[in-house]
Amino acid sequence: MTPGRFSDALGAVAGTIIGLDREAEILAAALDTGRHVVLDGPPGTGKSSLLRVVCRAAGSGFVFVEGNAELTPNRLLGSYDPAMVLEGGYRPEAFIEGPLIRALQEGSVLYLEELNRIPEETLNVLITSLEEGEAHVPRFGTVEAHPGFRLVAAMNPFDSVGTSRISHAISDRTCRIAIGYQDAAREREIVALEHQAPPELMAFAVELTRSTRHHPEVRIGSSVRGAIDMTVLAVALGERRAADPMTRAVAGDAAQAALSGRIRLGEAAERTPDEVIAELFAQLWERWFAEEPGKAGSLHPDRGGGRAGR
Ligand SMILES: Nc1ncnc2c1ncn2[C@@H]1O[C@H](COP(=O)(O)OP(=O)(O)O)[C@@H](O)[C@H]1O
Ligand SMILES: [Mg+2]
Repeated sequence: MTPGRFSDALGAVAGTIIGLDREAEILAAALDTGRHVVLDGPPGTGKSSLLRVVCRAAGSGFVFVEGNAELTPNRLLGSYDPAMVLEGGYRPEAFIEGPLIRALQEGSVLYLEELNRIPEETLNVLITSLEEGEAHVPRFGTVEAHPGFRLVAAMNPFDSVGTSRISHAISDRTCRIAIGYQDAAREREIVALEHQAPPELMAFAVELTRSTRHHPEVRIGSSVRGAIDMTVLAVALGERRAADPMTRAVAGDAAQAALSGRIRLGEAAERTPDEVIAELFAQLWERWFAEEPGKAGSLHPDRGGGRAGR
């Protein structure tokens, strides 16, 4: 591979990915120098988007695999087509390459999401490819890694399933890049990238979404995806009801639908997710309209004049 091609492609990240400049730079440096990487961050923080953009701009192949308990070694490596085997035996043509074999042969980036959910035996297959630069497939033989092959795995720090199990085997062979939530201004930019909507609605949706991350009864709050959905829904509902999306009934219905299914409550929570979202919504709604627009540290920086009577 061309040295530096990922770093050379970093210009493409600007404008598509909000924030994450430093993380993108480190990711590109790691890929350029043949490192394998773990992206460690909550869902919806832009891990997949960042890697996809960087790979596309660098002209690198990108093979995506969703990690879960059903990702067996055979699914990762590939398997023989039973009909073709019956007909002509275990010939190479009867082998259907799985994502790991494809990535090794093409010299692509294998992107494995939810690394902490994959079974132990599948992890061992991955470790062999990282350590020996090859994979062994029964009856098919050994597949050597093209020099462009990289593994990028994503992990969710809230997902305690198996995190310690994988930590040693994989973390000793990968570099780790932590990815967190963006600040409010950047989250507003992300929503605006995805959807055209009144700035005040986007700002409110971002603020409400962020408040789910600090509620004492909530274990995992919503990512910016919740703000995107709330914005889209409020605009559509407002049109349907011939109302401003920033009216309480419209924004409230959109907030419930966008956020109540996205939060995870802690063990000790006594209320339902709907109740928690309703409470957060009511609190923010009151503060939002009590506050003078435009003053320093305002909740709604984009709001022009005060609009009363909702
Ligand atoms: N920093 C960011 N820049 C641009 N878009 C983002 C960013 N973070 C999240 N998004 C948007 O939010 C959604 C979720 O992002 P994604 O990359 O799938 O997150 P992850 O892989 O971390 O779960 C996408 O629609 C993406 O466009
Ligand atoms: Mg993702």
